[in-house]
Parts: sequence; C-alpha cells; structure tokens
Amino acid sequence: MSTYTPRPEDKFSFGLWTVGWEGVDVFGPASRPALDPVESTYKLAELGAAAVTFHDDDLLPDDDTREATLERFQKALADTGMRCEMVTTNLFSDPIFKEGGLTANDRRVRRYATAKVLRNIDLAASLGAETFVMWGGREGAEHGASKNVQAALDRLAEGINLACAYVRDQGYDLRFALEPKPNEPRGDILLPTVGHALALISELEHPEMVGLNPEVGHEEMAGLNFAHGIAQAMWHGKLFHVDLNGQHGPRFDQDLRFGAGNLRGAFWTVDTLLGSGANEPYSGYLHFDYKPPRAEAVDGVWESAAGCMRNYLILRERVQAFRADPEVQAALDAAKVGELDEPTLGAEESVADLRAESHDRTALAERSVAMEALDQLAMDHLLGVR
Ligand code: GCO
Ligand code: MN
Ligand code: MN
Repeated sequence: MSTYTPRPEDKFSFGLWTVGWEGVDVFGPASRPALDPVESTYKLAELGAAAVTFHDDDLLPDDDTREATLERFQKALADTGMRCEMVTTNLFSDPIFKEGGLTANDRRVRRYATAKVLRNIDLAASLGAETFVMWGGREGAEHGASKNVQAALDRLAEGINLACAYVRDQGYDLRFALEPKPNEPRGDILLPTVGHALALISELEHPEMVGLNPEVGHEEMAGLNFAHGIAQAMWHGKLFHVDLNGQHGPRFDQDLRFGAGNLRGAFWTVDTLLGSGANEPYSGYLHFDYKPPRAEAVDGVWESAAGCMRNYLILRERVQAFRADPEVQAALDAAKVGELDEPTLGAEESVADLRAESHDRTALAERSVAMEALDQLAMDHLLGVR
C-alpha cells in the first residue's frame, strides 16, 4: 500500500454535495446526472474516506422519502464503518431564502429558517454528528440601505443563541462551527472572514459552544492567507472544523480539489494543521468541500475526490520531511523563529529596565534575518528535490 493511500485514521471527510454537484451554474444546466447520496457514501468509503457530511436537503429533499432514505443511509454507515461527523442546514437554495435566512428582513422567513435549523439539529444529534456547521450564504446584501447590518448581526446572534440553548436543553453533544465567506451568492455576506466570525463569537451567550469552519477558497477569495487565518483560529481554540479545497486568488469561488490552485498555500495549510512543528496540531476531521469541475463526467468526480486525499497525503509527507530536516532546523535557528516564544519583557524585569536598555541600531538594522534561505528549503521539500 503506497503512503498516499488514504486510510480511515487519516480522518478524511466529504460533503455529499461535493461529489453530488451536477454542474448547474449561472451559465448552464446540469452537465452530470444526479448521484444517489447513499451510493456516494459507499463509494467514498471505498476510496478511503472516514466520514461524510451533508445539508439536510442533500440527503433528505422531501418528507415523503425521508424515513426510507435515512434508513438506507444509516445502513450504509453501518456497512462501511463511516461516520457522519458534521451536518449543516441549507438556508440558501429555496427561493424563500433569497433575501436571507436567519437575517432576512421578513420575520416570517427568519422563523421558518430557525425551525429548519432546529429540526436539523435533532437529525444531526440522532446521527452522532459532533459538529453543526452554519454557513450564511444568503445572509448579506447587494445594496446599502436595504440591510441594517447591525440589526442583521443582532438577528444572527439571536439565531445562534437559540440553537445553542436548544442543544443544551436537549442535552446533545454538538458544537457549532461558523463558516465565513466574503461574497457569492450575495454581493456581500455577513461574517466575510475568519476574523469577523471570531469577533462575533465573543458576543454570544455560549461562546464555548461556537467555533469556526474556515474554507481555504473563501479566505483566498478575499486575498487573505488561509494558513494565518486557521493559525489564529487555533490560537483562540476555535478551529472546530475545516473545509479544504483549492482556489486561484481573488475571483469567483472555484472550490477546486485540495492542492489545486495555490499549492504553496496548501503546503503551509497542512503544516499549520500539523502544528507547525511546535504547536498543538488540529485533531478534527479533514473535510473536503470542493466541486468536481463542471467539464468532468462522473469518472472525473471520483478522480477529483481521490485527488483531494492524495494531495493532502503527499503534502503531509512533504511537510513532515521539511520539519524533520536538520538543515531546516538550523535555518529556523538562524531565522530566530524559536526566539519569538520568549516574552518581550523578562519575568523579573520592569518596564523601566526595558526603557533603560541601549541598542546598537545600526547592527539591528543590518542584521541577517535568513528567511529566504529557510523558505528555499521549504520550496525544495515541496517540489520534492530534497
Ligand atoms: C461554498 C460553501 C458551501 C458551504 C456549505 C456548508 O462553497 O460556498 O463552502 O459549500 O460550505 O454549504 O453549509
Ligand atoms: Mn466554497
Ligand atoms: Mn464550505
């Protein structure tokens, strides 16, 4: 078995909507047939995934078939040993949500959206999911005066607070993960970045129950550094879940397979998830939220799903080789990377001591930082020449 063969202990997980995307876009209809999500669960298990996730509507689009489909899905989980680790609610496809779900101006829509979320929380708990993602794709605006952003944030916080209270009342073991995105489908979406979402969490009634589900492409659409974003989420203890995929810089949400697009960014993403050598690693599921390109037929769907996992495993090997390389260790020392762990003011020191210190400003300005050498070693490892 090659080292790039995914195994359940790698904790790879896929949204059923990812492989299930039929290719409908703003310029054309489906280019692929609908896949049965239960069949997709078997297929993903065969490819080496450990878990699947879904929006209520991906698996259970109507009440007439709900019970029968759930039974088939649970059998698939039992047959394959797969987990359903995360569930999320579709508050964006139904035209009812055209102007928002939890933050629609129309209160009737907000009440309908809230009921849909609560019903889906029951389902998530019954399936043993540990994370409940909230992505507010339609929570936003195209105009200025049409949306009172501060009132919308009040309602968003209210909706999350209600969901948290419900989980506590029911005694469920479920945590919430907010997913930021700057735009698409709305012109501007609330909680556009990791930083915005982190700030909202601190205003909630149960901040300990709420963390983040950042997506590679969503930060990169905003020109941001994804590895830095998740590093800050980890620093706050808030990286509850992650959506891995690929993106070529600021443009439409490409949802490429993981490793495609910004490859160097993917290398540092894996490095960050593994703890960047010195930090606590991320231990949750590695969840792929990508779209097999519309040009592909069904064979390309499975090829791209396998590619997500293969690219992660290759990058994990490259990152581990980078971190284990004695020359890299020396280069990290030369760049004084470890010195940043040392507090700026010593334990026994006063601010007066610090202010009294004299500095050789010329020497400090001329000092080597040795960072290009360190980065070239990373490049050599990434490109497989070391
Ligand atoms: C996107 C989003 C969505 C959400 C998902 C969870 O690509 O715009 O990632 O796919 O992650 O719908 O609710
Ligand atoms: Mn996306
Ligand atoms: Mn996502």
